[in-house]
Amino acid sequence: MSLFHITRTLPEDATEAALRADVRHGLTGAFKTLPPKWFYDAHGSELFERITELPEYYPTRAEREILLDRSEEIAAVAGARTLVELGSGSSEKTRHLIAALTGLHTYVPVDVSESALTGAGHALIAERPTLRVHALIADFTAPLTLPDTPGPRLLAFLGGTIGNLLPDEREAFLASVRALLAPGDGLLLGTDLVKDEGVLVRAYDDAAGVTAAFNKNVLAVVNRELGADFEPDAFDHVALWDAENEWIEMRLRSRTAQTVKVPALDLAVDFAAGEDLRTEVSAKFRQEGVRAELAGAGMELTHWWTDRAERFALSLSVVR
Ligand code: SAH
Ligand code: AVI
Repeated sequence: MSLFHITRTLPEDATEAALRADVRHGLTGAFKTLPPKWFYDAHGSELFERITELPEYYPTRAEREILLDRSEEIAAVAGARTLVELGSGSSEKTRHLIAALTGLHTYVPVDVSESALTGAGHALIAERPTLRVHALIADFTAPLTLPDTPGPRLLAFLGGTIGNLLPDEREAFLASVRALLAPGDGLLLGTDLVKDEGVLVRAYDDAAGVTAAFNKNVLAVVNRELGADFEPDAFDHVALWDAENEWIEMRLRSRTAQTVKVPALDLAVDFAAGEDLRTEVSAKFRQEGVRAELAGAGMELTHWWTDRAERFALSLSVVR
């Protein structure tokens, strides 16, 4: 029997309230910011999938290489009956892991993008009709209640999405992940690694302009949801490497002095010419840092695998 459930864990108006709060907070401070989770409406999710196929965007290929090489080893160590995946998107790479987890009872993909969850869920069930898929439309930075399914649990957080959280958000997030796990459960974490600046910047500023379109999509989301009048062509896409924090920043730089109205918030936002709106950080990691952050949250890193070119790492950690 094939089973696909999708559960919205928050009412739709809660999402709108969260967007309003984030836009008000992010656009009225001295340095303008927006959280990256608002990129991912149906169009943004499609643009992200196109990014994963760009020649400059190596993380997806690198992580897929590791999963292809190591899924059986991961499955043997984790022995999971429930696989929970945060920010699962298309679940495309996860297929290799699901295929290796022969005793898997339920897959729980968690994402803010309903379109991504629906597409992924149907494709997975067509591939493995006995698998139960219980998708959750949820924000992984908020408290999560998981369905009652058999353990052990393996919680996967792939793609390097943990790098899109700021350090204090990461600390709170890892504590909440730890709280979802019991002794014997595992965390499979994908982290992009520190490398040559040129390689990194090109991955976030591709020649075909897909990442620029993805970045500007957040303006379309705010226009549609809050009636704002952002003009995407009035902003330039910027990707820069912050060597001190070891993260890439994506920004939208105002081409001119302009005022943007956000009627749902009764707000007028002034931009100076050349002023930036930061839309994403994408932190890059080193093994010692990942190990220390996990240990700080009560998890022990037991395995560390990289792709052959050592661009990206997948780590497995356990709760003792
Ligand atoms: N794991 C996939 C997708 C990465 S893209 C891969 O490796 O290719 C990041 C995914 O996380 C998107 O699908 C996006 O919708 C989701 N996402 C981003 N912020 C989120 C949040 N706060 N809560 C839940 N999902 C989130
Ligand atoms: C989802 N996340 C890991 C991507 C990244 O590389 O930080 C999002 C992205 N932003 C621009 N390109 C891809």
